[in-house]
Formats: sequence, structure tokens, C-alpha cells
Amino acid sequence: MQAFVTRRIPREGLAALSQAGVCSIQQWDSDEPVPRSELLAGVAGKHGLLCVLSDQIDKEVLDAAGSNLKIISTLSVGVDHLALEEIKKRGIRVGYTPDILTDATAELSVALLLATCRRLPESVEEVKNGGWTTWKPLWMCGYSLSGSTVGIIGLGRIGQAVARRLKPFGVKTFLYTGSRPKPENAVEFQAEFVPLAKLAEESDFVVVTCSLTPDTKGMCNKDFFSRMKKTSVFINTSRGAVVNQEDLYQALVSGQIAAAGLDVTTPEPLPTDHPLLSLKNCVILPHIGSATYATRNAMSVLAANNLLAGLKEESMPCELQL
Ligand code: NDP
Ligand code: DGY
Repeated sequence: MQAFVTRRIPREGLAALSQAGVCSIQQWDSDEPVPRSELLAGVAGKHGLLCVLSDQIDKEVLDAAGSNLKIISTLSVGVDHLALEEIKKRGIRVGYTPDILTDATAELSVALLLATCRRLPESVEEVKNGGWTTWKPLWMCGYSLSGSTVGIIGLGRIGQAVARRLKPFGVKTFLYTGSRPKPENAVEFQAEFVPLAKLAEESDFVVVTCSLTPDTKGMCNKDFFSRMKKTSVFINTSRGAVVNQEDLYQALVSGQIAAAGLDVTTPEPLPTDHPLLSLKNCVILPHIGSATYATRNAMSVLAANNLLAGLKEESMPCELQL
């Protein structure tokens, strides 16, 4: 059997694949994305595909792969880059990497929240550019988690892990929204299930940790931001497309909301001349939520094991239910 790997991945994952003796590997061995033409050529006739979140695995790719393709293993928990309906129709199984990246992503979400609400990048810049002239009572003030209301959009694995980490900062109230109430998960934080509009209106911090679906696409839009308090901080570590970025920009420029921290944007990378990058009250990171050495190593091994199990027609360590 043959598999195509669309990117350079940690050594551990590649070793797991090559030492298993289950399939021969063809790899786009680069840190940069595989060009579309190479992807289409690379998948042709393959039985397995190991991809990353920046590869759009759509009908064209599936057609190019042909009927041999039985398993797609993505090095991510997010699956919005996969044409799931089309994949299901063709009887292809999907492996993904939940849980093992939850802690790293939650840590980064908290780091981004604190960096944004306490204006860390702006403060560091002031130290370097001479803006720090003396201690000033009114200078570089931000917002505190202590006594605050935090609204979590998507109380899933990462949403819960974020809440768990924020609670010891003295958060007073947790709100959450999603497709249905989850009392079994919410009880730990005494979190209240509320409609999206109420979450926007009452939260001092909004943290977006939902998956990107047709329902969540563009969910944080003009109406949403207009309901937020002028003193509130917006954090997104899910997917860029959950946010209408033009509406976010207007909300930040007009002072409708206090600040935003984004680990994910549309597009990725965000062009260096993008208007959001000109704002002091917007902290943008290059999609590094799961980027710890240990987590990326574990993700690569899990993705490899999902692929191998799929090729052997065995049960996968983590299979997406289609
Ligand atoms: P989970 O499946 O555990 O959680 C997803 C959450 O999204 C669920 O709680 C779900 O709630 C919620 N959701 C779905 N539809 C809606 C909706 N209409 N409104 C509000 N919430 C909704 O996934 P994970 O927590 O493991 O991961 C979440 C996402 O985080 C991933 O899909 C990925 O896009 C992103 N991610 C980003 C990383 C980064 O590097 N920045 C790293 C890892 C993940 P319900 O069950 O009620 O539908
Ligand atoms: C994911 O897994 O979906 C993240 O965005 C990257 O780890």
C-alpha cells in the first residue's frame, strides 16, 4: 500500500509510519505547504493520505486520489479543511488528533487572553521605543480577570480546559453557548448556558473555542460585537472564519470593544499590511495553539497510528464519526 504525507512532520511520527512496514511513503518533505499541483499528483492512486489543516481536501483532491483512497489522517483536531460529506459518500475513514493538544491550546488561549487584556505586546514595545518615561498612574492600564464574567463559545474539550485554567484567577461567572446545554461539563464551573446574544452582552471576556461549521462561520459579526461592552476583550483560538474580520476591525477602531487577541485569522498567514495589524488593541499570533514540542510530537504519532490502523482496516486510536 502507498500513502502520501503532505508536509514535513515531527521525526517521531514519520518513524512510526516508516517502521510499521505497512505502506510505502511519498512525502512533501518541506515546512512549506505542498503546491496544489503536487498534492493532486501526489495523492493519485494512494491508499492513505496524511494531511495538515492548511491542505484543502476537497472533491478535486478526492477525484485525483481515485478509488484506492481509504483513509485520511489529519494532523489536527479541526476538520473544517476536509470535505466531510464527499469523504463520507466515498466510504473513506478519517482520523484526527483530539485531546492530546487540548492542554497546549488552552495554555496558549490563556496566555493570549492575558497578553491582550494586560497589553503586554504594547508595553514591551514602549520599553524598547523610549515610551516608558516614568511610572504613571494612568498609563498602560488594562482589564483584570478577577471578579469578571467570562463567556465561552463552545464548551468542548478546549473550552473546558480554558475555563479550568481561568477559574483560579478569580473569575466570578462563566457563561457558555453551543448547540445545546451541557450540564455534565458546565457543573465544574457552575457555567450558565445562554444564547449567543446574552453571552456577548454580559461577558467581560469572550473566548471562542468552538469548531468551524456552517453554523459557526461568521458568527462573531457586527451584531455580536455591537452587543459587547466597550470594556470587553475578545479572544479567538478556534478558526479565523468564525469571525467577520471587517466587523471586528470596526469594533476595535470605534472603541465598541476594548481589545482582541487572535491566534487564528482569515486568511492565514494574515497579509502584513492587513488593517488589523495596525491596531494596538489587537494581538495576533500565527496559529500556535498546539505548538509545543511534546504536543506536536504526540500529534504526529497519533496521526501516523490513525493512518496505519486505517490502512490495516483496524479500529483507529481516534476516528472521526462521519
Ligand atoms: P470539541 O469538539 O471538543 O469542541 C467544539 C465545540 O464547538 C463544542 O463544544 C461544540 O458545542 C461547539 N460548537 C459547535 N457548534 C457550535 C455553535 N453553533 N455555537 C457554539 N458552539 C458550537 O473540539 P476541541 O475543543 O477539541 O477543538 C475546538 C476547535 O479548536 C477545533 O475544531 C479547532 O478548530 C480549534 N483548535 C485550534 C487550535 C489552535 O492552534 N488555535 C488548536 C486546536 C484546536 P456543542 O457540542 O454544543 O455543539
Ligand atoms: C487543530 O488541531 O485544529 C489546530 O488548529 C492545530 O493544532
